[in-house]
Amino acid sequence: MFGRRGNNGDQPRKAPSQMSGAPEAAPSVTPSPTVAPPKPAYAAPQASPAKVEPVKKPEPTPEPPKQNSSRRSPEYYATKSSIFNALVEAIDLSQLSRLGPEDARDEIRDVVNDIIALKNVVMSISEQEDLLDDICNDVLGYGPLEPLLARDDIADIMVNGAETVFIETNGMVEKTGIQFRDNKQLMNICQRIVSQVGRRVDESSPICDARLPDGSRVNVIAPPLSLDGPSLTIRKFKKDKLTLDQLVQFGSISPEGARLLEIIGRVRCNVIISGGTGSGKTTLLNCLTRYIDSTERIITCEDSAELQLQQPHVVRLETRPPNLEGEGQITMTDLVKNCLRMRPERIIVGEVRGPEVFDLLQAMNTGHDGSMGTIHSNSPRECLKRMESMIAMGGYTLPARTVREMIVGSVDVIVQAARLRDGSRRITHVTEVVGMEGDVITTQDIFVYDILGEDANGRIAGRHRSTGIGRPQLWERARYFNEEQRLAQCLDASDVGEAMNG
Ligand SMILES: Nc1ncnc2c1ncn2[C@@H]1O[C@H](COP(=O)(O)OP(=O)(O)OP(=O)(O)O)[C@@H](O)[C@H]1O
Ligand SMILES: [Mg+2]
Repeated sequence: MFGRRGNNGDQPRKAPSQMSGAPEAAPSVTPSPTVAPPKPAYAAPQASPAKVEPVKKPEPTPEPPKQNSSRRSPEYYATKSSIFNALVEAIDLSQLSRLGPEDARDEIRDVVNDIIALKNVVMSISEQEDLLDDICNDVLGYGPLEPLLARDDIADIMVNGAETVFIETNGMVEKTGIQFRDNKQLMNICQRIVSQVGRRVDESSPICDARLPDGSRVNVIAPPLSLDGPSLTIRKFKKDKLTLDQLVQFGSISPEGARLLEIIGRVRCNVIISGGTGSGKTTLLNCLTRYIDSTERIITCEDSAELQLQQPHVVRLETRPPNLEGEGQITMTDLVKNCLRMRPERIIVGEVRGPEVFDLLQAMNTGHDGSMGTIHSNSPRECLKRMESMIAMGGYTLPARTVREMIVGSVDVIVQAARLRDGSRRITHVTEVVGMEGDVITTQDIFVYDILGEDANGRIAGRHRSTGIGRPQLWERARYFNEEQRLAQCLDASDVGEAMNG
């Protein structure tokens, strides 16, 4: 049954205890993509133009609530504006913040009803309720953003100035009818958001990262840098993070692929998750951390805490931007360096963006097996190049070969995530970093996603499969952790060649 696995058995393998340190000479396995140029993730699978039925429904399509997303008439905004101005004159808004949300709302309701009666505004009860909601959101919350923040099906909210708000749902970006009164209102809301985490955004410091109380990640860039009004980007925080089983349901990975990832997490492979913006890297990292043993001491380093580890022994660290005087910054490099003095068993870096990659790689090959991080890149090969250039960015003047040897000695597996053109998110490669051939890093794909075509609705159809490598490099690790049977099973079950041969 494991014929090819047996055939490869004579190849030298690193035992888990020897896996750190300098890489071995060129591997004896045949690397699949060796010096191939970087390729976009979606181009890697062999696409054929054939129209076929989709294998799986890619993502669930929950019915989004319709309320408040339709564009309102200019008259509505004019009425709201005049009532809002009258309200500001009638009550002391700063006093409202001392009341609980319910009491403050009741107070506003009474005053707004009085103003509507006084001004003789003609409105139906439901219009009046909508107006009241809008005004309460403006005064007490995040204004027109509130209905979007309340929706669970939205992944990203992107505000490009007062009049343009885009959202991403089910992998697709669409424009909403939501508008702010003007850029001043938008700027006030941005200010309110960032002041909650003790930061400030204005002309003199126009770029700011922050977090909403629910954990959503926020970026604001204000004029004069942003030309058409403040630009606000929110990555909505999902309380219930997706699990590998859910990714299987969505078709992002096959059940066997999910088991493979589970084994990779469990057997302490050093993993880099690679992917484009919003491709699901952090989600995948979070999924992998679920399979870490509960006895391990884990240290996470993030720019904005997004990971939700379930284990009891976790230390969460967050970077800090400089203050207004440009002082006090704590970078990711500082955090990763400090981690090493904290007796970590695994180090998890939310997003590796710069020179900290050097420290992470050092950690990976100095006994912190099972460390993980994500890198922004479109293919496993590009991910290797990115690591090299990030090390160069740090001013390390190491010969290219040394840097590559360091990468090979540290990283075991690259998992590639991609958001395909139909909006679906898939895991497109599970690739091992095998060794060096001359000056070139060799890799081998053990699991890939093939695009087979698309259905009439433009939905991409494809399949996940193992590449037929019977004995991947992580085999010895799997054996060490008593997982080799499961590894063999999931590779065999997803081997299309064997399945077709019966
Ligand atoms: N396989 C998936 N199927 C459906 N939705 C997903 C999947 N993976 C991630 N998502 C959703 O997509 C959004 C973006 O995911 P995530 O934050 O993991 O992406 P990212 O690659 O880390 O983004 P960034 O580059 O901005 O850090 C989240 O709302 C997440 O819940
Ligand atoms: Mg992320």
